[in-house]
Amino acid sequence: MQLENIIYCGDNLIWLKKFPDKCIDLIYLDPPFFSNKQYEVIFNDGEEIRSFEDRWQGGINHYIEWMKERVFELHRILKDTGSFYLHCDSHASHYLKITCDEIFRYSNFKNDIIWKRTHAHNDPRRFGRNTDHILFYTKSKNYIFNPIYIAYDEKYIENFFKNEDSKGRYQSVVLTGPKVSEGESDIEWRGYKPSQSGRSWSVPKRIVNSLVGKENAEKMGISERLDLLYENGYIVISSNGIPRFKQYLNDMEGAVAQEVWDDIPPISSQSNERFGYPTQKPETLMERIIKASSNKDDLILDPFCGCGTTIAVAQKLQRKWIGIDVSPAACKLMKNRVEKNSARGVKIIGLPVNIVDLKELPPFEFQNWCIGALGGTVNFKKVGDMGIDGFTFFNRYPIQVKQSENIGRNVVDNFETALQRVKKDKGFIIALSFGKGAYEEVARIKKEGLFIDLLTVDKLLGFSEEKVSDKMFEFY
Ligand SMILES: C[S@@+](CC[C@H](N)C(=O)[O-])C[C@H]1O[C@@H](n2cnc3c(N)ncnc32)[C@H](O)[C@@H]1O
Repeated sequence: MQLENIIYCGDNLIWLKKFPDKCIDLIYLDPPFFSNKQYEVIFNDGEEIRSFEDRWQGGINHYIEWMKERVFELHRILKDTGSFYLHCDSHASHYLKITCDEIFRYSNFKNDIIWKRTHAHNDPRRFGRNTDHILFYTKSKNYIFNPIYIAYDEKYIENFFKNEDSKGRYQSVVLTGPKVSEGESDIEWRGYKPSQSGRSWSVPKRIVNSLVGKENAEKMGISERLDLLYENGYIVISSNGIPRFKQYLNDMEGAVAQEVWDDIPPISSQSNERFGYPTQKPETLMERIIKASSNKDDLILDPFCGCGTTIAVAQKLQRKWIGIDVSPAACKLMKNRVEKNSARGVKIIGLPVNIVDLKELPPFEFQNWCIGALGGTVNFKKVGDMGIDGFTFFNRYPIQVKQSENIGRNVVDNFETALQRVKKDKGFIIALSFGKGAYEEVARIKKEGLFIDLLTVDKLLGFSEEKVSDKMFEFY
């Protein structure tokens, strides 16, 4: 089994069962949220509730059972030093937490991270729901964790860093720690002995190191360090004769990140990183998780990888990665995305390669595959879509997909009406095969200046996956 910089296409449960034990350093998963219909999840409107009932018949228990099997495998393949982040929302986070507590053990639960995923909005008759939950677990007590520093908020800076000089804004803080000590720690300096206030010297090492280097700093006594700081403008003597340290804002790494993340904005419609993938997460979110819980060359897995945010960021941060997604279109999209930052080509294992595989795909996936094979985007508007399942990437020509044989004249006629309504003069119908009537109808419509391309799935299979991005430019 290949375990490095690889995309697996298919149900993650099937792939995960093939992974050896304890091979992954960090797992992030962003599964379909209780509702499995992405467009409803995104818009978070009334339909979402209906789709829960439609999709997960048997309700939440069915969903949790589905997730449990996967979390069990993920726990098995995680290294003892590894970490696990499960992204979900308030519909199921509490149920999922119980499942994860059982599998990872309650004592290995670290945080319920709250990510503010959208700006404020009006939810009728309740408080606006604008957060997701990310449940963070480790496999043991011995795990990687690199603290993350974030910018101080403006109010904090205004309240605490009130002073300013040529080196910038600063606050004055004590140079001593609690408890009296003897010897060096209570040496008299500039007329002050810390024990007179019931304390002992505590000189900040980081600034001394930055002034003379760590090795030299280690050879210096406390009064020498204090002299050095004083000469370099880091100490003021207060009106009652107590030396205080000038802590400059510029020298601070920032505030240590807490478990409420309201400083990572959602992807805006103008953003360069936007792929139009409905549930795409921002790269900054993944950066925070990957930096906190892995080091260079560690192996990161996203088993619900979507358009590949996790693996694209892992690649940039010089980690190894594996992405899995059931959608062939998503796998192709992530391959193109990662290849932009990779000297080597990226391999997808498990793509449907023949007509038998394709016929077996569930309808939604069949549709995704066909639209993806054309390099198009799926139409997530399902109500009043007029039979338009997607659009080509650049010209946004409508695409209709039929997972059936011998498509007839009536389908072409209906699609003609749809094209006229959206004011487009070109469109595509994709199907397993077309009848004679469909071709005759296309020829008739052409005389009226409307072009409908009838594409069989066989023909799409001929478009090799490597050519997806070229095709977007050449044809559509
Ligand atoms: C919420 S999206 C992930 C979005 C991703 N975090 C990103 O930034 O693009 C969930 C993904 O899970 C995939 N998925 C759903 N069921 C799956 C399964 N059984 N195995 C693998 N992937 C699955 C869907 O195709 C979808 O792309």
